[in-house]
Amino acid sequence: MGLRMFISELDTCNELTHIKKEVDWKYEIGEITRQYKNKAILFENIKDYKDNYLFTGAFSNLNTIKILLGMDKKSKRKDIVTEIRSRFSVQGNISINNNVRNEYEADEGDHVNLYNLPVPWWHAEDGGRYVGTWHINVSKDPFTNRINAGVYRMQILSKNTTSISVSKGSHLADHVKKHTILKRDSPVAVAIGVDERIVMAAAASFEKGIDEYYKAASLMKKELVLQKCKRSDLEVPLDSEIILEGNIKRGVCVTDGPFFDYCGKKNVNEGALLFEVNVIRKRKKPYFRGTAVGCPGAEDHNLLSLLASIDLVNFHGNTYRQMIQNYFLRHKMFQLFQLTGRIHS
Ligand SMILES: Cc1cc2nc3c(=O)[nH]c(=O)nc-3n(C[C@H](O)[C@H](O)[C@H](O)COP(=O)(O)O)c2cc1C
Repeated sequence: MGLRMFISELDTCNELTHIKKEVDWKYEIGEITRQYKNKAILFENIKDYKDNYLFTGAFSNLNTIKILLGMDKKSKRKDIVTEIRSRFSVQGNISINNNVRNEYEADEGDHVNLYNLPVPWWHAEDGGRYVGTWHINVSKDPFTNRINAGVYRMQILSKNTTSISVSKGSHLADHVKKHTILKRDSPVAVAIGVDERIVMAAAASFEKGIDEYYKAASLMKKELVLQKCKRSDLEVPLDSEIILEGNIKRGVCVTDGPFFDYCGKKNVNEGALLFEVNVIRKRKKPYFRGTAVGCPGAEDHNLLSLLASIDLVNFHGNTYRQMIQNYFLRHKMFQLFQLTGRIHS
């Protein structure tokens, strides 16, 4: 179920809130998202971005999650946890579609402009517009060719650059380290607006060397079809709404933030990576996907809570704090989770 099909399924099940009035990408989308934090929302009329939609809140409540996983309406949270665990325990299949899709509009080189995307300024206390809040970052280990897909926040810094805020122990950081040994930049692809189960697999922490695409396919219970990137040997999901291709610049650190993050507090990362974008591809009338994190019980917390119940949360930070936080997440004690602070402090 690609993102569009899922949105239409939510609509059929009366689980989608349509916002048809004009909304400002600056603060207003974030405010409305926080206000309706238990609902899936489709923004249909974004100031300055008339030909774009913005979808948020797929993990806002158990009903939306059951629809995503194709589960019975009467299933309980524990059934969802059992189902996810059992799906992750098998290996899914992936394939690559080599026919270039012609339905994408592409901007390359000097024509790249991230400000052409309907990226919200999610919170008045944020330092800017975050293009990466609910997406996947894809990279390859240059020595083993293993893929990593993760969710790492990204702030727009200029028309063709963003930060990528990665914890030092993350698999993307590991790939960057290896490319640096080879004295080169690290190719990265970012897919925004993909099947939500792919984001779920990317947010889960598997052992190094496990390719999250196979785990996404097992969660989807069908083959995951990918497409080749234009300028690198990376692949992104065939149904991606928006694709950014580029490189993490070797040896460059930038400041990311402040960002109102999962702890409900502002956070600054002075050691973030610099991502230079050289291709933007988007489908016609694309569905941008993002989220306002940091509200107790908002969708980021719901997703982490499910993953914590199957021991798949690892922010690669302080182990003791993470053990305590996993307990709070599992038991949906989101305020206590936030009180314990950032795993990386
Ligand atoms: C909404 C959301 C945002 C996240 N943002 C970040 C982030 O900015 N930096 C980070 O290191 N991890 C972030 N994470 C956690 C990682 O996605 C998660 O640890 C994932 O397993 C990373 O993959 P890895 O273990 O393969 O590195 C986020 C998770 C979610 C659900």
